[in-house]
Amino acid sequence: MKSIDTKTSYKEHNNMIKGDRIILRDKSIEDVHDDFKWETDPELAALDATVPVKLPFNKYKQDYAEEIRHPYFASCRFAIETQEGKHIGNCAYYHISERIGETELGIMIGEKEFWNQGYGVDVISTLLKYIFENTALKRVYLKTLASNYRAQTCFRKSGFKPYVRLIRDGYDFLFMEIYRREWLLRKNNNKDQAGNASL
Ligand SMILES: CC(C)(COP(=O)(O)OP(=O)(O)OC[C@H]1O[C@@H](n2cnc3c(N)ncnc32)[C@H](O)[C@@H]1OP(=O)(O)O)[C@@H](O)C(=O)NCCC(=O)NCCS
Repeated sequence: MKSIDTKTSYKEHNNMIKGDRIILRDKSIEDVHDDFKWETDPELAALDATVPVKLPFNKYKQDYAEEIRHPYFASCRFAIETQEGKHIGNCAYYHISERIGETELGIMIGEKEFWNQGYGVDVISTLLKYIFENTALKRVYLKTLASNYRAQTCFRKSGFKPYVRLIRDGYDFLFMEIYRREWLLRKNNNKDQAGNASL
């Protein structure tokens, strides 16, 4: 098993992680306009249980550049691009705990015309594969609003199972999780199915 040093693993992947339909790459200052547009969008903020950013663009850009220079400790953030090179959203794993062996996962597809086309499932499956193949982490969890059925379908299709529903900061959240052993089982089942189909 490789160490938890995810940045080394990421560099071994030429600083990009490829899915079937998407590519995950480092965040860049050039993403700032897209991210400002998405983070100030009331619909996206509501789906993410937060409020739209109210900062003026210049201040937002200043903070943004600072975060790229000094990323948060115990977090790995990626831009999501289509294979045609269009930046459609962001994803991350964060609250990485080596001691407990777990991390939290987050995703936002900001370009709404890309919703419901399977990009979310591809992003989550790609990130899970990356985490379980390149770190020693054993459990990945996430939270989503109990009313966000699209997100829940996307996460279930990627292997997550709900484990608790909790009110936090006035929001009704469903927490979902997947363990390494479940991910491996799914991977092997998918392999078997692909093998049977080719017989
Ligand atoms: C949530 C999100 C990541 C999902 O990504 P996506 O690319 O839209 O999702 P996918 O197309 O891979 O999967 C969504 C599934 O939910 C289904 N779905 C859509 N609306 C649904 C609803 N109201 N109820 C149940 N299922 C629904 C889709 O049909 C699809 O299933 P299918 O492939 O079997 O048809 C993305 O839509 C997004 O970022 N939305 C805005 C922000 C947001 O919701 N953030 C909260 C994340 S916790």
